[in-house]
Amino acid sequence: MLTARLTIDPHFTVGTVNRRLFGSFVEHLGRCVYDGIYEPGHETADDEGFRGDVIELVKELGVSAIRYPGGNFVSGFRWEDSVGPVAERPRRLDLAWHSTETNEVGLHEFSSWLRKVDSELMLAINLGTRGTLEALDILEYCNITSGTALSDQRIANGATDPFGVAMWCLGNEMDGPWQLGHRSAEDYGKIASRTAKAMRQVDPSLELVVCGSSSAHMPTFGEWERVVLTHTYEDVDYISCHAYYEEKDGDLASFLASAVDMDRFIESVVATADHVKAVLGSDKTINISFDEWNVWYIERYHGVDKIEGLDNWPVAPRLLEDAYSVADAVVFGSLLISLLKHADRVTSASLAQLVNVIAPIMTEPGGPAWRQTTFFPFAVTSRLATGRALEVKLETPTYATTVYGEVPVVDAVATSDPETGLTSVFLVNRSQTDEVTVTISVPALGDVAVREAHTLADADSTASNTLADRERVGLVKNTSVSVVGDEVTVVLPPISWTAISLG
Ligand code: AHR
Repeated sequence: MLTARLTIDPHFTVGTVNRRLFGSFVEHLGRCVYDGIYEPGHETADDEGFRGDVIELVKELGVSAIRYPGGNFVSGFRWEDSVGPVAERPRRLDLAWHSTETNEVGLHEFSSWLRKVDSELMLAINLGTRGTLEALDILEYCNITSGTALSDQRIANGATDPFGVAMWCLGNEMDGPWQLGHRSAEDYGKIASRTAKAMRQVDPSLELVVCGSSSAHMPTFGEWERVVLTHTYEDVDYISCHAYYEEKDGDLASFLASAVDMDRFIESVVATADHVKAVLGSDKTINISFDEWNVWYIERYHGVDKIEGLDNWPVAPRLLEDAYSVADAVVFGSLLISLLKHADRVTSASLAQLVNVIAPIMTEPGGPAWRQTTFFPFAVTSRLATGRALEVKLETPTYATTVYGEVPVVDAVATSDPETGLTSVFLVNRSQTDEVTVTISVPALGDVAVREAHTLADADSTASNTLADRERVGLVKNTSVSVVGDEVTVVLPPISWTAISLG
């Protein structure tokens, strides 16, 4: 039996937990939109064709802002195709995913769906195959109240009120050779700066995200951030980070420690942004929009669902439909812990993605929708991690990994909400064999009682929820939690994620 000790004091804060940390991402990719959020013939579909069962699950997940419409898709996207009478919208080749985009769901429909799920729109613009003028056009269409060609066109298309989009991503993964319109950091930095300046001439209050690296393992990582921020520092508010993790070569020990990589990634980007700040003598601070993160089996399924052929461009094919295991959900929960530990600088994040495509929610056409294992850590963290993220003191055993060296067996973070008086603790146990008894010392909290304690674990860490067995994995109440004086004790099973709420 292993032991660990965690000390929590609400006076030691990292930063406010921005609700935007619990954002997600809907891309026109595979069955995320079509057969995902939208399936007109489905028995739960509303009068706009949106699946009611999916709407309910998205609300339960607790998603704040949603990045849209891509992803790689956005670099070939002509936004004008996605507005106006649906019957007149063109069908287009989507080069990113070798599919046909019907444009049946576009800006208006997606905005309407967002209202149903109580989420904010975070719009990505195409800086791959398009430029500043098109960015200004979509901004005018979305945000100007009336009296101009494009705002009046929006009104004629049925939206009297502007969409009021606050947060805009200046392209997507422009460092990636796979990206349509991929550029050097110099070239991208210049077009991003020009576009940001032009957009701010329309509305200085916009929140703008410049593309960082598509992974910390890109050959240009670090230098890309430095060059791009040198061009755009005063023009933008955020730099993006993207990271996907997977178990490689059967190395579960390293995979379970993926959040170590996320911690280092965030800290490197913060250091680079602050370096540029110092060089420029700026008093402005750039924060991180971690606008793609998840577990994704890119290598395991590499090429498996690849579509090819000059005349083979299917509509909504099954792509990237990873089924997540308990171990995946534990890693996923630890990635949320990493984001919270850096809440002072990571003030926006988007789980990539939301439905069917590397997603917490799966659907079957004409059939049910269900929660993947990753649904649970997200929903609980989104609900309980409010107020301020705390700097905790953690004493834990360590273990050796091939990829990250010696890493902590337990990882943890806590939040404290002065408004509700609740303190929440999120923990993972990365040991594959041992339970860990964690003593949580809370002398500064006064008398505490356990409000909730949930654990995700299973004797079979490969178990997942599937169409055939949709509720195989779920949260269980952690009955080991006890309070004695100013100490809370909890037992964490091997390969597990736990959340405790104290009041
Ligand atoms: O989320 C899937 C893809 O991953 C996105 O389209 C792209 O931005 C990233 O490479």
